[in-house]
Amino acid sequence: MKNTIKMNRAWTMASRPVGEPKPDNFKLVEFEIPTVQHGEVLLRTLFLSLDPYMRGRMRSGPSYATPLEPGDIMQGEVVARVEYSKTKRFSVGDIVRSSIGWQEWGVIPAHLAKPVDLSLGPISTAVGILGMPGLTAYFGLLEICHPKAGDTLVVSAASGAVGAIVGQIGKINGCFVIGVAGSNDKCRYVTDELGFDAAINYKTEDVSSRFKELTSSGIDVYFDNVGGPVLDAVMENLADSSRIAICGQVSQYNAVGIAQGPRNMGALLIARATVQGFLVYDFERRHEIARRRLAGWMRDGRLKYKEDIVDGFEHAPTAFAGLLRGDNFGKLIVRVSELD
Ligand SMILES: NC(=O)c1ccc[n+]([C@@H]2O[C@H](COP(=O)([O-])OP(=O)(O)OC[C@H]3O[C@@H](n4cnc5c(N)ncnc54)[C@H](OP(=O)(O)O)[C@@H]3O)[C@@H](O)[C@H]2O)c1
Repeated sequence: MKNTIKMNRAWTMASRPVGEPKPDNFKLVEFEIPTVQHGEVLLRTLFLSLDPYMRGRMRSGPSYATPLEPGDIMQGEVVARVEYSKTKRFSVGDIVRSSIGWQEWGVIPAHLAKPVDLSLGPISTAVGILGMPGLTAYFGLLEICHPKAGDTLVVSAASGAVGAIVGQIGKINGCFVIGVAGSNDKCRYVTDELGFDAAINYKTEDVSSRFKELTSSGIDVYFDNVGGPVLDAVMENLADSSRIAICGQVSQYNAVGIAQGPRNMGALLIARATVQGFLVYDFERRHEIARRRLAGWMRDGRLKYKEDIVDGFEHAPTAFAGLLRGDNFGKLIVRVSELD
């Protein structure tokens, strides 16, 4: 295809949400695709990844990343097909991953696109199990939590993009794995399909009491995706020398004012526990090695994944709002266009 496409569509942040994101916090804009210059490629988005961190970008105030300003294109990673290339690095038809944001098309310098190795898995997995969420699970669990065989590992948002992989890597490492999730279907999925040892529905069960029933000497490892009341229940049940990885705090992302922290820091002292936050990008130099390991486990049938694919670019804002209240079941992805 020549560079003859004229119009692009993108979702921008129209205003900062207060609480849950609403439709009027987003605006669909249309503009001409710029001409591809020397060293650039034109990308057509196939899949747009929707991730909880995007809510943080919509908030002003201190963070590890610069916040969006009203009118900015929503940030995000896509898998895309190269439709036009003015660089030797890529040919038309190549599949790449790039952070062009919520856009149907993108013109970017070639170094901002990363080739996707299609021998590792289906295209969509490049933003899921073999992309940022899978790598987050891999490094967060193995490098921050140091799981040992026989450890009791708890993971929250257990059926989600990161949590489902954490629990399965925990099983590969010989842990007793308990998932915490927000519906009976999600709980059944992590035990019956993914092989977790137990699951707790935090919306209908007393989480702290269930931990006591399920563990004899407490929780050795907690992979925290949610913060809030589930974190408090874990803190009431820590084993000696336990490790807590703070991966995310999704229960607090829509909070108005100051987010809720743990209620009982003294529990850490009694258990001589370690708490560490981390970002997947802290391990960037080793991402390719980890991606290959994850793909190997996938091939061997030791890692399964579930994707929640929403069809149509126009549905991105509503799907994103649903992600922050648990409507998704698996890695949330928007199919923006078909490969052919
Ligand atoms: N540190 C890093 O580098 C890094 C990288 C990627 C992701 N993360 C973090 O990892 C976490 C999981 O991300 P993901 O992409 O895998 O998302 P996900 O788990 O696929 O989706 C988010 C899930 O959060 C749960 N949730 C929503 N509101 C909740 C609440 N009030 N209390 C408890 N759970 C709630 C929902 O599951 P239920 O129905 O089970 O409640 C929802 O499905 C997020 O906190 C994210 O920010 C961190």
